[in-house]
Order: sequence, then C-alpha cells, then structure tokens
Amino acid sequence: MKFSQRPLALAFVLFCVAASSCNKKQEVGIPVGQFASLTGGQATFGQSTDKGVQLALDEINGSGGVLGQPIRMITKDNQSKPGETSTAVRELITRDKVVALIGEVASGRSLEAAPIAQRSGIPMISPASTNEKVTETGDHIFRVCFIDPFQGTVCAKFASKLGAKKAAIITDVSKDYSLGLAKSFKQEFLKEGGVITGEQSYSGGDKDFSAQLTAIKSANPDVVFLPAYYTEAPLIIRQARQLGITVPFIGGDGWDSSELVGVGGAAVEGCYFSNHFSNQSTDPQVVAFVDAYRKKYNQDPDAMVALGYDALRLLADAMKRAGTTDPAKVNAAIAATKDFPGVTGKITLDEHRNPTKPAVMLQVKNGKFTYVETIAP
Ligand code: PHE
Repeated sequence: MKFSQRPLALAFVLFCVAASSCNKKQEVGIPVGQFASLTGGQATFGQSTDKGVQLALDEINGSGGVLGQPIRMITKDNQSKPGETSTAVRELITRDKVVALIGEVASGRSLEAAPIAQRSGIPMISPASTNEKVTETGDHIFRVCFIDPFQGTVCAKFASKLGAKKAAIITDVSKDYSLGLAKSFKQEFLKEGGVITGEQSYSGGDKDFSAQLTAIKSANPDVVFLPAYYTEAPLIIRQARQLGITVPFIGGDGWDSSELVGVGGAAVEGCYFSNHFSNQSTDPQVVAFVDAYRKKYNQDPDAMVALGYDALRLLADAMKRAGTTDPAKVNAAIAATKDFPGVTGKITLDEHRNPTKPAVMLQVKNGKFTYVETIAP
C-alpha cells in the first residue's frame, strides 16, 4: 500500500468498526425523548413524571405499541440544573433522533428546551409547566396541564371565598413559574375587591426568610399566597409559624410533593393549594389509574405522575391518528387533539396549544392532601 493511501484505509476500517457497533446497538421501537429532573433540587418532580410515563409506556407497549411498533423511551436527567436541559434536548434530537419530546415540569426548564424543539421541528409536550410563555414559543410546543393565568385566578377566588380581604404574596423571583402565578393571583384578588399588603420576595435556594416574614407579620394579612416550589414552601411556612403568623397559606401546584408535609409537618396543616389532580377522585378512570400505579410502585400518585401518564398517552394517540411517526405529521395530530380522556381531565388543545381543564383545591389535613373542591375553567 502506498503511504498516501494509509489514512484512507484507516478511515475505512474505523468506519466499518463504528458501523458494525452501531448496528449491534440499534434498538427497536419509536424513539421518544424525555428530559426530567430525576436528581437534584427538584428531584421529586422528575421522578414522579417519569413514573407516570413508565406506567403509560407499560400499557401502550403491553397492548401492541403504536403503528405496530413499541415506543422506546430515552430519558435524560437534567439534575434540576439550569443549562443541563438544553444539552439533554440537543442530544435527544441529534444523536437519539427522537420523533417527539416529553418534558418538563418546571416552567423555567421547559422554557429552556422549547426553542430547541421548535427550531428542530420536533413536537414537545410539557406535562406540567403552567407558565403562559412555554407554549408561546411556537407551534411545536404543547402542554397537557392548565396555565397559570387560570391557576392564579382559582387561588384568588378561593382566598376570597375563605373570607380574606387582605392577602400578602411571597414570590420566588428566580422562577418564571412563581412570577407568573403571583401576577395572576394579584390581578384577580384586586378584581375581587381585595387588597394586597406586604409583597415580599426571595430567590430559590434561600433558607432564611425572617426579614420577609417579619414584614408580612406587621402587614397583618388574612391569608398569604405563596407560589413556591415544595423545596422552599415548607421552610417558609415553618418559619412563619415560629414568628406567630397563624393565617392560612395558599399555594399552587408547585407545592405538590410528599416533602411538603415531610419537611413542613404541623406547620403546613390546614394550608391549601391548587392542583391538577386528586388521587381521592371517584371517577372510574382515575380509580383504575390510581390502582394500577399503587400496584406498580406501592405508593400514591401525585399530579405529576398523572400528567406524565396523560402526556405519553396523548402522544401515542396522536401518532396513531397521524398514521406515521413523521414529526411534522405527529405535530399536526397533537394540535388536533380533541376530548382526549386524560386522568387529569378531558384534553382539547386550543389554538395556543393549551388545554382548558378544571383545577382542584386540596388542603393539608392530618398530613394528607385532602380534596376540597373542583374549580371549572
Ligand atoms: N407548574 C409548575 C411549573 O410550571 C410545575 C409543577 C406542576 C409542579 C405540577 C408540581 C405539580 O413550574
């Protein structure tokens, strides 16, 4: 062999090795990507969604899959860290060649992923991100949960119903979710004739809230609206109780984690939060879902389990209706979703790719999330 041919020959050998190892690794099934916070600060969010997705996957693949093929989930952990979601989503699209994406729970991380999915023409379904801006990113971004302008309204109406005239608000300025929810609560509470007193803020990860809570105590509100995640909500409420603030706290879906009670204990007793789902529902479809979940995981499902379950089932339904896994056609089929029977309610996507669904109000009672009422849109 001539010296000059060597690199070419070497490249050919390397190519063959790579090709055969790729062939060996080639897996069957329709590749669907999931990005979730399986570890890190908000790990219960990602773990719950993933369990819901896995339960749906068992059911879908157990009954023959989609278009004669199983769905193959490829799940990446973003460790709850900013910046990791974009890396994960790029890998899922370019390396794993996923035809659709499921993710995320936290609105901030969905907002990180959405422009990438949109630019790549890959449909993305967020199971649980409620911030308005998420689906505004473009026509490839969908969600199966209600949005915060509705959730904030629900909480404000509920506060008035409790008889509150003065509400304080504590916002996490590091989260799109918290900022959006605080804004919509405030608008509606003022509309209801209420007064906002003692608006305070903090940044995710803070541990000492005594300055904010001292200010709130002197404002003397009837209720405190706390659009926080479960990572800070119980700490804030515990410190509030220590300072002698006895009024109820009201939160949104971000409170939904067993850690709310685990960390908050007696301090969170009697508090209320809005959510997508109650596992105490007597709807036969929900009962069957809760039973199947308990059987598989030996625990009760939270809202993110239910939303993850709905997200993958809705995607599978769209693929069937599309008759293909071509992302553009699947995208059109998702957009056309009408009356899909989710365990979190009936899902019809509007022209902004959002569903209109009822919310439930839950109360912490004896350490359990107890159903109070359903609020229709
Ligand atoms: N809605 C929250 C967000 O957008 C996430 C969340 C959904 C948390 C459901 C708990 C339950 O950031």
